[in-house]
Amino acid sequence: MKVLVTGGTGYIGSHTCVELIQNGYEVVIVDNLYNSSREVLKRIETITGVLPKFYEADIRDREAMKTIFEENDIDSVIHFAGLKAVGESVSKPLEYYDNNIYGTLVLLEEMRAHNVNKIVFSSSATVYGDPKEVPIPETAELHTTNPYGTTKLYIEQILRDAAHANPELRVCLLRYFNPIGAHPSGLIGETPNGIPNNLLPYIAQVATGQRDYLRVWGNDYNTVDGTGVRDYIHVVDLAHGHLLALHYLDEHEGVETFNLGRGVGYSVLEVKNAFERNSRVKIPYQICPRRDGDIAECYADTTKARELLHFKAQYDIDDMCRDSWNFASKNPDGIK
Ligand code: NAD
Ligand code: WQD
Repeated sequence: MKVLVTGGTGYIGSHTCVELIQNGYEVVIVDNLYNSSREVLKRIETITGVLPKFYEADIRDREAMKTIFEENDIDSVIHFAGLKAVGESVSKPLEYYDNNIYGTLVLLEEMRAHNVNKIVFSSSATVYGDPKEVPIPETAELHTTNPYGTTKLYIEQILRDAAHANPELRVCLLRYFNPIGAHPSGLIGETPNGIPNNLLPYIAQVATGQRDYLRVWGNDYNTVDGTGVRDYIHVVDLAHGHLLALHYLDEHEGVETFNLGRGVGYSVLEVKNAFERNSRVKIPYQICPRRDGDIAECYADTTKARELLHFKAQYDIDDMCRDSWNFASKNPDGIK
């Protein structure tokens, strides 16, 4: 079975390619390398023994996409390619709508033209906005607070409409919570450009000496210790979720939405402590004012993924911190 993985050299995409290859799938990657490097392909080969077929192309490039579908007998698509920085999306909304939404439209049109009818899409818990209740079920109200989140919401709707018009089209919308960690080999992981926005990459850069201290955005939330609570999930567990989603699409028609998280919340200070425990590096920190747009608590109701996808996360917060540190300490300058 051949799977086209858009954004396959990126953080979650590369781990998913490893999972797919190790489970007998043939992988074809398309990525414009905007936020990743060609070296990732060699690392995937080192882990799996297979060098995936790679097209350096933008998913908005219709001719390139046409060629990819013509040259490969694609059975299904996992669609990761997109821009993902919340703050940047506020200052560059048009770039986000163009890349994420137009890119998805070209992909869907080429899928239709080549009769490819299964797609797994990277959505995000960001579509729940500030949730009314936790744990958050898939049926919760949807609401976004920034253009990045809005692209995810719109793409979900576009996929639902496309499946409504074409009953052959099967869609899994996967709403990820907070992916962290790295492949246990330390060969692939998250390599943010510039100053990281997300918690774990920031902590890892404090640990490697690239940043002085962690700024904890607020300790006056109504949570266990006043700092923000999130549902962290190991990227290898998340990658496995994609394999299960492909299995699901083999057996089910229509559109289905799944939360992918662990269903457990950890505060910023709990994550910092877990990182210290597993790296044996002290992480200095300062409490700072709340970050604009942040919410107190966000964690998943995982019932649906457990019952329908048979998804169960294997890795806990200690594994996540250990593997994040293993990758960061081996690759302080990212993957070049
Ligand atoms: P990433 O930036 O590491 O990977 C995305 C990849 O897509 C990169 O390799 C980039 O070069 C590529 N890309 C971007 N635009 C492209 C285009 N127009 N054509 C071809 N390639 C393009 O990000 P990630 O963390 O692996 O996230 C993957 C997907 O999951 C994204 O859609 C993201 O929005 C979504 N997501 C991520 C998180 C997270 O916290 N990392 C959470 C929820 C959802
Ligand atoms: C986690 C917690 C911060 C950095 C974002 C996107 C979301 C999704 C995942 C893609 C919060 C605190 C953070 C720091 C801190 N991405 N923090 N100091 O905000 O839950 O979600 O990434 O879809 O859309 O919004 O993740 O890692 O930024 O923050 O105190 O330097 O850590 O306030 O409580 P978030 P995060």
